[in-house]
Amino acid sequence: MLVQVDHLMPHGFLFIFLFSSIISTNIIHACNQTDRSSLLSFILSLSSPPLNWTSLDCCHWEGISCNHDGWVTDVDLPSKGLKGGNFPLSLGNLTHLRYLNLSHNSLYGSLDQSTFFSSLNNLEILDLSYNLLSGELPDSLPSRNMIRMVDLSSNHFYGVIPSSFFQEARNLTSFSVSNNTFSGSIPSTICLHSSPLIKLLDFSLNKFSGNISPGLGQCLQLQVFHAGYNNLSGLLPEDIYNATTLEQIALPANSLYGAMSDRIVNLTILTILDLNSNGFSGMLPANIGKLSNLKLMLLYANKLEGLLPSSLMNCTKLIELSLRFNNFEGDISAINFSRFSQLSKLDLMNNNFTGMLPTSLYSCKSLKAIRLSINHLKGQIQPEILSLKYLSFLSLGFNSLTNVTGAMKILMRCESLVFLSLTSSFVGEDMPSDEGIVEFDGFQKLRLLDLSHCEFSGQIPVWLSKLKKLEFLNLFHNRITGSIPSWLGTLPRLFYLDLSFNQISGEFPKELCRLPMLASEQTAAQLDRGYLELPMFASIPLILAKDTNYNFLSYAHALQYNYLSHLAPSIFLYNNSISGSIPTEIGRLQLLHVLYLGVNNFSGSIPDQISNLKNLEILDVSVNHFSGKLPASLASLNFLKSFNVSYNNLEGPIPRSTQLQSFNASVFEGNPKLCGAPLPNECRTINGVGGDNKNHQDEDQNGHQIPWFYISVLLGFIIGFWGVFGPLMVKKTWRYACFQALGKVQDRLITVWMTRMQRRLRN
Ligand SMILES: *[C@@H]1O[C@H](CO)[C@@H](O)[C@H](O)[C@H]1NC(C)=O
Ligand SMILES: *[C@@H]1O[C@H](CO)[C@@H](O)[C@H](O)[C@H]1NC(C)=O
Ligand SMILES: *[C@@H]1O[C@H](CO)[C@@H](O)[C@H](O)[C@H]1NC(C)=O
Ligand SMILES: *[C@@H]1O[C@H](CO)[C@@H](O)[C@H](O)[C@H]1NC(C)=O
Ligand SMILES: *[C@@H]1O[C@H](CO)[C@@H](O)[C@H](O)[C@H]1NC(C)=O
Ligand SMILES: *[C@@H]1O[C@H](CO)[C@@H](O)[C@H](O)[C@H]1NC(C)=O
Ligand SMILES: *[C@@H]1O[C@H](CO)[C@@H](O)[C@H](O)[C@H]1NC(C)=O
Repeated sequence: MLVQVDHLMPHGFLFIFLFSSIISTNIIHACNQTDRSSLLSFILSLSSPPLNWTSLDCCHWEGISCNHDGWVTDVDLPSKGLKGGNFPLSLGNLTHLRYLNLSHNSLYGSLDQSTFFSSLNNLEILDLSYNLLSGELPDSLPSRNMIRMVDLSSNHFYGVIPSSFFQEARNLTSFSVSNNTFSGSIPSTICLHSSPLIKLLDFSLNKFSGNISPGLGQCLQLQVFHAGYNNLSGLLPEDIYNATTLEQIALPANSLYGAMSDRIVNLTILTILDLNSNGFSGMLPANIGKLSNLKLMLLYANKLEGLLPSSLMNCTKLIELSLRFNNFEGDISAINFSRFSQLSKLDLMNNNFTGMLPTSLYSCKSLKAIRLSINHLKGQIQPEILSLKYLSFLSLGFNSLTNVTGAMKILMRCESLVFLSLTSSFVGEDMPSDEGIVEFDGFQKLRLLDLSHCEFSGQIPVWLSKLKKLEFLNLFHNRITGSIPSWLGTLPRLFYLDLSFNQISGEFPKELCRLPMLASEQTAAQLDRGYLELPMFASIPLILAKDTNYNFLSYAHALQYNYLSHLAPSIFLYNNSISGSIPTEIGRLQLLHVLYLGVNNFSGSIPDQISNLKNLEILDVSVNHFSGKLPASLASLNFLKSFNVSYNNLEGPIPRSTQLQSFNASVFEGNPKLCGAPLPNECRTINGVGGDNKNHQDEDQNGHQIPWFYISVLLGFIIGFWGVFGPLMVKKTWRYACFQALGKVQDRLITVWMTRMQRRLRN
């Protein structure tokens, strides 16, 4: 090779080539054989597909780098599908290892038993994040004064972080253990005792508890302090305000309390202040405007109160300001929002703000989401709102706004509007009629329209038929008269329709059974899965979750949704005056999860086709005039979690299935001619007259049926068990995981919110 080159290349090139080949020759023969065998035994200990580690020179192996003496310095193998349990043992022999990145693999086992940590005397960077490692931490970090960065996040580590852990780790700048199960107190004295140079500390998503002890004020370079989603309690230690290098403080979802100190304004380069879902109280510091670099101010779900300080307007770099679920008060129109030129999300939901809808908001040209619901605001929506070109989420419910017709004529020209909730605002006005709206192609991006609890009179307006993107329509609790228009069935995206608590008459239009999102899997697959700019809060009886086991009328928790697509496809017509029978075409709505037809004037029999709704979880036809038998095919609805046919004129036996018999007898009551489990009255043959005779007949029949009966029950049990409990079990695990993360926040929010909403609704 060299000889060939010698002949072909001019001398300048030859020199360069020789020079570089001398270096590479050096490396080739320098791969340290001890390190090579350590690496090989590491890889042999894994059960994953082998890496391409075949050549002699381990320094050229994938993910491996060496120093000039052939010692392995870097092992960089993130996301390589590595699986295995005792990796640390052999890697511990790589005495010159400087950089170890095994993140995003499936390594399990624990670190505490091994000598791995104590022998890596040169390790500077350790990234084991996103694995399945567990156990407690060893007594101290590897390589003491060399270590600079440690990331153990998203594993299954537990236990306390030993006080000796950071001993002599003087050059540690970044330490993350988020998303594990660590407990005990967070090592907030880290700068005092060992690592004064720390820049990033992330303890979030663990079970740390107790107070945050003073100490962080000694951190001369601390930029990021995250400890959200733990059980931390008590006050914020005063000395944290000495850490003037702080750029991010995120402590959401803990039990911290007390007032926010005025000294927080010392942290002038702070960009993120996230204290949401705690128990902070008192007023915002009057000088909060000195935090002029703040981009995110997330103080929602606390007990903060008082006026918003006027200096807040000096936080001109704010992108998101979320103060929902607090007790702030004062005239909102006194706040000049016009300086918030970067503001993208403003959430003031559930406070006690008064005054007119602030017109200065309309000059925040970056706004994408505004939520002012559950306050005491007055006034009308002004045409200037149209200058908010990116406005996609607008929620103004539970206020005392007026002129809904004017509002709709303006808002339909908001080109980006996706989410519009005016629930319990504009109360008692007329339903915005078609005049001036129906000819216009407005609301072309609207996916959610909530006009519930408005007590609007009038009919369902035709302009709704033009909302081609509409997925969610809530007209719950108005004074709507007239019938359900057949064009509703043509709305191409609609999958959630609530017309409950109105005075709607006429029949169930069979055209409604064509709703493409509920009838066609192909259409449903095109559902917009984009997230909402702000989470939506839904509670019964407004909304029902696809993934809850709660009964529509009995669960008292609202849920938080970041995606509309997570709502259960539903039709609610509860409490109207709808008559006639259920069209047999109902069987087309195969993707429907919830059908609520209770408290109407329906008559006729319950059509057999209803059993085509294989996804149905909730079926309520109570308090109607349905007659005839329950279709036997109902037994095949495997997902049914809630069922109510009470107070009709149904007759005959209740079909046998694991579901139907599992419901409380009360859901069948008020149908004197229904019989069989779970009702106490047994089924008797219709023609039987004399007691003896009948008993005899029954015995005969039973005698015949016994084998079949047992077989079908057995089969029903097996199929039913996995059909019903299988999915439930999956869902439960999933829900459990979600609730672990969200539950704490939600429970608190929802209790406050529900109480307030109930109070408002009563008034
Ligand atoms: C394995 O590595 C050698 C050299 O290191 C290379 O020549 C070979 O193509 C690699 N094989 C695969 C399958 O990547
Ligand atoms: C480890 O590798 C992942 C994936 O390439 C990377 O995102 C991460 O920053 C690396 N960790 C360190 C500490 O360099
Ligand atoms: C630790 O950091 C100091 C200064 O930042 C540096 O002089 C020293 O070499 C570092 N120690 C190691 C072992 O890297
Ligand atoms: C806003 O900042 C300016 C300049 O720093 C200052 O003069 C003014 O007083 C501040 N406004 C408020 C309300 O704090
Ligand atoms: C209702 O709003 C429209 C549009 O802003 C406006 O033209 C009309 O005057 C308003 N009506 C009343 C009664 O204020
Ligand atoms: C039906 O709605 C009316 C009017 O909203 C209400 O008075 C009545 O109590 C409701 N009935 C049921 C059973 O919910
Ligand atoms: C069934 O419907 C009746 C009438 O609407 C209602 O009173 C009852 O609470 C319902 N039962 C269940 C379990 O939902």
